[in-house]
Amino acid sequence: APVPTREDKFSFGLWTVGWQARDLFGEATRPVMAGVEAVHKLAELGAYGITFHDDDLVPPGSTSAERDTIISEFKAALAETGLAVPMVTTNLFGDPVFKDGGFTSNDRAVRRYALRKVMRNMDLAAELGAEIYVFWGGREGSEVDFAKDVRSALDRYREGIDMLAQYSIDKGYGMRFAIEPKPNEPRGDILLPSIGHALAFINECEHADMIGINPETGHEQMASLNYTHGIAQALWAGKLFHIDLNGQKGPRYDQDMVFGYGDLLQAFSTVDLLENGGPNGGPTYDGDRHFDYKPLRTESIEGVWESALANMELYLSLKERSQSFRADPEVQEALEASGVYALAEPTLNEGETYQDLLDDRSTFEDYDLEAGRTRGYGFARIQRLALEHLLGVR
Ligand code: GCO
Ligand code: MN
Ligand code: MN
Ligand code: MN
Repeated sequence: APVPTREDKFSFGLWTVGWQARDLFGEATRPVMAGVEAVHKLAELGAYGITFHDDDLVPPGSTSAERDTIISEFKAALAETGLAVPMVTTNLFGDPVFKDGGFTSNDRAVRRYALRKVMRNMDLAAELGAEIYVFWGGREGSEVDFAKDVRSALDRYREGIDMLAQYSIDKGYGMRFAIEPKPNEPRGDILLPSIGHALAFINECEHADMIGINPETGHEQMASLNYTHGIAQALWAGKLFHIDLNGQKGPRYDQDMVFGYGDLLQAFSTVDLLENGGPNGGPTYDGDRHFDYKPLRTESIEGVWESALANMELYLSLKERSQSFRADPEVQEALEASGVYALAEPTLNEGETYQDLLDDRSTFEDYDLEAGRTRGYGFARIQRLALEHLLGVR
């Protein structure tokens, strides 16, 4: 299998490899992992970066002396290994105070506390050189429709994001924010449930230019949505600021499996898009390839590192396959024949008006409707070729 290197820009959340596998039904099956240990091991495996929530790195309840020690040891490990911190985020979901949300809690004091918690961690993020700050509003939502005024909640969400954006600007942090959508879990229904909702929300923000999204594979698939389409639309909008890659088997609870586990074919098109761009060009993603997964609860620490490696290896294997797919002359010909490239051509000629279109009898009155109705598009051939490349049987 291909060997990951720093140039591949793989990163992991400290909460992923550090997950102790405590779930709804059972206790932890693994011991606590210190940030320093994760840094060393990830660097050894060929990763580029590590990300964290404030509380992953500094356990809640630590004194400020303890906090300082943890941070300076973490920094030393980063310096020693060269591992980067491309992204940082806040835990606004674990503490019971956030049971009705952080920025959108019905309790104003909670909302003010949430903002302070984020600002404190943004200072640390800036100190560590993080350029992306992620907002996953897992507790922003409701179980009871009548108990949450969604419009007020969105006002408060926007107020919070805009104030924090102003904070980054005033402090000269130069951060870009990335909102992470998720349809449900832990709330019955979460606000900004999909890529589309998040993109629409961003347009309403004052500092929209510095706000993008951090879409997660499994979160879109939990809602039966196509992840590759979602990130393509985010790229189209210039809003793919960060990415959470993992695996999910359709609409069920958030599985956070290793990337590629679940819908492998869609993982293939995701990697093809990220690595090769759209077939007709357009903006591409150049940030870190971030994995947000949970090592299986059955595993001891060996299995944790095994699965971390699996994420990177699988991504690189798919990257190789996607390159052979794109380079195959038969694939090129099939894409051409199917009109994939021709879709880049504007529907109207340059300078053509609707009146010109109305006057062009060949577009309607004399259009050969029967030919349009009966033609085949050749997508079946593309599907077959893609599968053959994915399986490595071509
Ligand atoms: C989840 C989310 C989180 C976020 C993390 C960073 O479903 O639990 O994916 O893991 O990605 O909070 O914002
Ligand atoms: Mn998830
Ligand atoms: Mn998750
Ligand atoms: Mn995530």
